[in-house]
Amino acid sequence: MYALNESLVTGIESIDGEHHDLVALLNIVDVAANRGEVDEVRAALENFRRQLGDHFVEEELYLSIIRYPQLDAHAEQHAETLSSIDRLIAALPSSRAELQALSRHCFHVLLHAVLSMDLHVAEWQRKAARIAPQDHGIQNPDARDQPHSAAADNISIPADKAAE
Ligand SMILES: [Fe+2]
Repeated sequence: MYALNESLVTGIESIDGEHHDLVALLNIVDVAANRGEVDEVRAALENFRRQLGDHFVEEELYLSIIRYPQLDAHAEQHAETLSSIDRLIAALPSSRAELQALSRHCFHVLLHAVLSMDLHVAEWQRKAARIAPQDHGIQNPDARDQPHSAAADNISIPADKAAE
């Protein structure tokens, strides 16, 4: 069973919650791969791909709200990841060993790369939160005690996205 390693937890609650769900979906792929059931692997992988696409849309919206400077590169990596999964689905192998290798690739290479990128977001947010109170404290003293970087600009974040 795959699990979300502590080192890949961003600390951004809404994002981490969805990452846990994505890992759970990859475990369904893995169970099917271990059984050597190619049709089940396809269905599970398509489901994972759908949820991952939805997650990317949500995440890119969040990154634009917080004005993440690397948004374009981040979104490009999202698109490349989805294309990679599409190619895997289009050419699924038939043997159990190959399906298992594909499952491992999805978790250890594809998802790992996606989650690593999100750690950069978390790091940037922490830095922004440290800088923001000095930059904006005169105009908006209330922002001083708010840890979220976007608070300095009075950006409104949907309640489910604001948790950090
Ligand atoms: Fe993510």
